[in-house]
Amino acid sequence: MVSFPERAGTRTSKARLSDQTPEKNCVKMNPRLEAVLLLCALLPLSNGQDPLGWLFHRHYYQEQYLGSLQAAATGVTCPDECDCPPTFPIAMYCDGRGLTAMPSIPSRIKYLYLQNNAITALPDSALVNATNLVWLFLHHNQLTSDAIGQEVFLKLEGLERLYLQHNNLSRIPPSLPRTLRDLRINHNKIEKITPADLEGMVNLTFLHLQDNAITDLGTSLKSLRSLTLLDISGNKMTKVPDALPEHLHQFYLESNDINTLPEDFLRGLAQLQYVRMAHNQLTDKGIPPNTFNVTGLVELDLSYNKLERIPSVSTTLKHLYLQANQIKEFTLGSFCSIMDVTNFSKLQTLRLEGNEISREDIPSESALCLRQAFSIDI
Ligand SMILES: *[C@@H]1O[C@H](CO)[C@@H](O)[C@H](O)[C@H]1NC(C)=O
Ligand SMILES: *[C@@H]1O[C@H](CO)[C@@H](O)[C@H](O)[C@H]1NC(C)=O
Ligand SMILES: *[C@@H]1O[C@H](CO)[C@@H](O)[C@H](O)[C@H]1NC(C)=O
Ligand SMILES: *[C@@H]1O[C@H](CO)[C@@H](O)[C@H](O)[C@H]1NC(C)=O
Ligand SMILES: *[C@@H]1O[C@H](CO)[C@@H](O)[C@H](O)[C@H]1NC(C)=O
Repeated sequence: MVSFPERAGTRTSKARLSDQTPEKNCVKMNPRLEAVLLLCALLPLSNGQDPLGWLFHRHYYQEQYLGSLQAAATGVTCPDECDCPPTFPIAMYCDGRGLTAMPSIPSRIKYLYLQNNAITALPDSALVNATNLVWLFLHHNQLTSDAIGQEVFLKLEGLERLYLQHNNLSRIPPSLPRTLRDLRINHNKIEKITPADLEGMVNLTFLHLQDNAITDLGTSLKSLRSLTLLDISGNKMTKVPDALPEHLHQFYLESNDINTLPEDFLRGLAQLQYVRMAHNQLTDKGIPPNTFNVTGLVELDLSYNKLERIPSVSTTLKHLYLQANQIKEFTLGSFCSIMDVTNFSKLQTLRLEGNEISREDIPSESALCLRQAFSIDI
């Protein structure tokens, strides 16, 4: 009887994981779930997908078997409103149960699932015993900043993932652990971020701030030397952040109010591959020459702006989105300054529809420069 849920759980994880080619290594290395989790947590996320998405579903497969077994798992305490699988005693599942307040948390818990509830407050006492937490998921609740204790996170010395997206927060909670690697606080009502909020988070790798009301990040990103993904789309930014972290790989800024870019703002970001600035107010005048002519860039999205010219881009760029601007001319020199057998653009996708040019405006020499473009929409 006890082995049944174990098998059910194992089968589920395997089926899910085998679909995920980029994360295969973490499965092969160790069949034990706990070790797999820790290994996966250290792997970088590719293409914005959460490789651990399958975990969120684990309990749906397990809870029907486990509920009655909890009492039998001797010595393992668990609040009535949550599930603590005996096979995985360091996790506690309390998500989607209509909770309005925090449950009590045994100190052994490392992975805590509290998302999709109606929790309104996180008082200082809420996490006093939960000093071993590594993941804390509180997204889709009703937390407001005033209902978060000043010291509630102070004792969490190993916290790596904190998900607070889709709450009612108006600022970054105080005293967040500097150990964080993944902070998601998107879809809240944050207007301002101070340098102290993120200072010293040297391991922070993913920062999701999209869909808030942020007007300026100031110098708050300065110390984030591990940051690879920054999403500040859907805010009220009128300029790009002052100092971008040097290891940035994905930079999402779409749907803001940016009309001008500073000189060389993408230089020195050797790992930057994806830049999305669609739905801003960018004009030709606001973009210094060669701003986007930086090697390494793979995808550049400048659609839904006010550009009248195609900006100069690096020959290494593969995908360029310029639809819904006011472009009047097809300037081949934006892609190739020299054209010969070895100098050509690596561009594969070019979208230009919704501009003021048509197919006849593409010069015939383009075939030499844009020889890898298999899709030009105009
Ligand atoms: C913390 O642990 C103590 C001792 O086990 C217990 O009495 C208390 O209720 C716990 N508090 C919370 C908030 O879990
Ligand atoms: C959170 O914000 C929503 C939308 O503005 C509002 O309907 C809800 O009452 C707020 N909840 C709390 C707890 O403030
Ligand atoms: C950052 O990660 C390294 C390596 O895992 C660790 O030794 C260090 O203590 C971490 N720093 C912080 C502030 O958590
Ligand atoms: C991009 O910059 C390089 C030098 O870094 C330069 O040779 C090239 O002409 C520039 N490309 C365009 C399209 O201006
Ligand atoms: C491009 O053209 C320049 C100048 O003609 C030449 O030196 C260079 O080798 C060519 N090839 C590449 C890949 O840059």
